[in-house]
Amino acid sequence: MSKFHEPVLLDDAIKGLNIRPNGVYIDLTFGGGGHSKEILKNLQDGYLIAFDQDQEALRNGKWNNDRFIMINKNFSDLNKELQRLKFCNVDGIIADLGVSSYQFSDNNRGFSLKYNSIIDMRMDKNLKKDGVFVVNKYSRQELGRIFKEHADFKNPTFIVDAIIKHRNKHSINTTFDLKNIFQNSIPEQFHNKFFARLFQSIRIEVNNEIHVLKSMLRQAQELLVPTGRLVVISYHSIEDKIVKSFMRCGNFLNSQEKDFFGNPITPFKLITKKPIVPTDMEIKLNNKARSAKLRICEKI
Ligand SMILES: C[S@@+](CC[C@H](N)C(=O)[O-])C[C@H]1O[C@@H](n2cnc3c(N)ncnc32)[C@H](O)[C@@H]1O
Repeated sequence: MSKFHEPVLLDDAIKGLNIRPNGVYIDLTFGGGGHSKEILKNLQDGYLIAFDQDQEALRNGKWNNDRFIMINKNFSDLNKELQRLKFCNVDGIIADLGVSSYQFSDNNRGFSLKYNSIIDMRMDKNLKKDGVFVVNKYSRQELGRIFKEHADFKNPTFIVDAIIKHRNKHSINTTFDLKNIFQNSIPEQFHNKFFARLFQSIRIEVNNEIHVLKSMLRQAQELLVPTGRLVVISYHSIEDKIVKSFMRCGNFLNSQEKDFFGNPITPFKLITKKPIVPTDMEIKLNNKARSAKLRICEKI
């Protein structure tokens, strides 16, 4: 098993890209390079351009291959970076969203509930805002918004009240400071689920994940050639809803526009009507795959 990250739904994702040996492909989330490595195996005269905003991922991409280009940028810079490299169109794009196992298990970065560390949560160390800032400086309204929008807490008032009450006395710096606030008020059998959602909402806010995902999807639509494929793996319902709506309707409102004759107007043909999920065996071998959903569409 790769130490950095075990690629999820590898075969289905690569098959979904429908790789042309001389095409141009983009891996927007390089991580440990598991998906990239398979793409490269399928290329002859084509190119693979990979993005990762985490400086740590770069060391996995030191490959001696002149058909491979690695870019240490947020994937919201997709268009700009491709213009710089003078690529106008691409044949396929893959995004395997979220964090890598390496990021989770680095006990200095604050992504994991398991380790006590500063609530950093920045995938890109150059970002100005970290989790400590969000938890200690965000207003009551801003905190309420992130818990609702990023983790579907229906009524986050008790979470917001508890954080504000605590931070008025002591600042909340570490993952365990944050967990301790709720240790007694949340029944133990719900701890994992509750803290996972709490941490998820802060991480999404720190990395501006919703905004960059939407921006990337729009840019992907522009860049793909007709019949080019878009392959996205998401790990929670907030992301998956966005991807599903965009692939089905070409917008984020899940509303299908129709032409004069009542035919749906959509920029994509759906290759997966329902998402592909990992087999029980894959989940057994790699528990991090358990919430993965793979969706594939083709530009019309
Ligand atoms: C789930 S891992 C990808 C794993 C990879 N497919 C593999 O097989 O090793 C997600 C990676 O995407 C990166 N990432 C997440 N959001 C990003 C963004 N907006 N721009 C660039 N990289 C991003 C993370 O830093 C992380 O390394």
